[in-house]
Amino acid sequence: TLDSPTASPISGIMKSVQFLPYPNLAFQTVPTKSIPFQQPMPLTSFSYDSQHTQEFSDSALRYYRPPPPNAQLGYGYEHWIRRPEERSRVDSLLKAVDRVTEGQHKKMNLAEVGVVAWRGVVTRLLTAPYEDREGWEMNVMLINGTLYLEEHRTESQIMEKNNIKPQHRKMMYYGYAFESYCTTEHSKPAASNQSDGSSHNSDVSGWGGHVDTNIQWCSVVRTKLGDTKFIIGGEVDCSDGQYKGTTDTFVELKTSMVIRGAADEQKFERKLLKFYFQSFLLGVPKIIVGFRTPSGQLTTTQSFQTMQIPRMLRDKSGHKTNTTPWNPSLCLAWCHQFLTYLKQTVVRDSDDDPSHQKDSVKEEVNRGHSPTSTTVWRVSFVPREGAR
Ligand code: A3P
Ligand code: MG
Ligand code: MG
Repeated sequence: TLDSPTASPISGIMKSVQFLPYPNLAFQTVPTKSIPFQQPMPLTSFSYDSQHTQEFSDSALRYYRPPPPNAQLGYGYEHWIRRPEERSRVDSLLKAVDRVTEGQHKKMNLAEVGVVAWRGVVTRLLTAPYEDREGWEMNVMLINGTLYLEEHRTESQIMEKNNIKPQHRKMMYYGYAFESYCTTEHSKPAASNQSDGSSHNSDVSGWGGHVDTNIQWCSVVRTKLGDTKFIIGGEVDCSDGQYKGTTDTFVELKTSMVIRGAADEQKFERKLLKFYFQSFLLGVPKIIVGFRTPSGQLTTTQSFQTMQIPRMLRDKSGHKTNTTPWNPSLCLAWCHQFLTYLKQTVVRDSDDDPSHQKDSVKEEVNRGHSPTSTTVWRVSFVPREGAR
């Protein structure tokens, strides 16, 4: 149990930051043994409203409906209410964790949980072996045997994200516009040219209402990688039909450039790695991709069964491992190895006083308790090298 249920253990009581000693975590050393991953089960869900205030309701949940053919994804750009980028703290996820590990809604013992994190952080961990461009940093804290992982963004990274070039900004908008065309507020969609309340009569057919990126619906799930239990939270784009508290209706929406040749196809197949793990972690079974022209006109949509993506790519490559763009087992094995290392290291070196710390850890371990660290650790990932 956290001392203060509303404060992030990471942002709230940060004492010091230590860098992990450089480990032997080059990707070549990853064993290829397969690490089982348990089907995620929803524990709770919550919404952020137009003020980005968290509420434990499904008010922001949207329902899938097919987009109109040839939709213009630039539509409504000037009306986009864009939430500024900031530090992505774990606080609101912790409120959800408190609800499911304490009191009347208790569904799980926090003592059993090995890792608490947003889905984005775990996706970064899982895709790290194939990430060759973007480095990242992560804050890590160990409390009563549970690791809390949080993305660490520097001031300049936040500023950069808030000052992106207009062309890139427009491309980002296409993704959100696709979500608007593909969703309604009601599980039984009205005729496609009818207003759903948030759109106006002058709006184009099938438009779901102007984009407000403050509004999000999040699912919090429990799952297990190897022997480690996880609580993971993340945004789910919509549900295909009534949401019944299970993951089977979840849908992830994505946009991508139309594929014009072999090079584009290869690029898309590499992108599928992120689509796959992002969806896999919350148990989202279906990914609907809207292919668009460079100027934002929707051309086709294609639906992928998340769990079939690795097989689809293997089949396409004629089962020659060296031509398969990525191997999900290697990602799971690396993530598992990294977390094992992290837990051992953070436990071993967690106390501020090293001489006192070794004995107290030994004592704690002898008594069967997991020691607690009040130190915030900083992990930094370097593409093609590993994490330290
Ligand atoms: P597309 O993925 O369709 O391009 P998500 O797909 O995760 O639901 O995110 C919705 C949209 O947010 C994305 O649409 C993209 O426009 C934007 N987005 C998400 N993550 C991003 C990132 N790391 N950088 C830039 N844009 C991002
Ligand atoms: Mg989303
Ligand atoms: Mg999406």
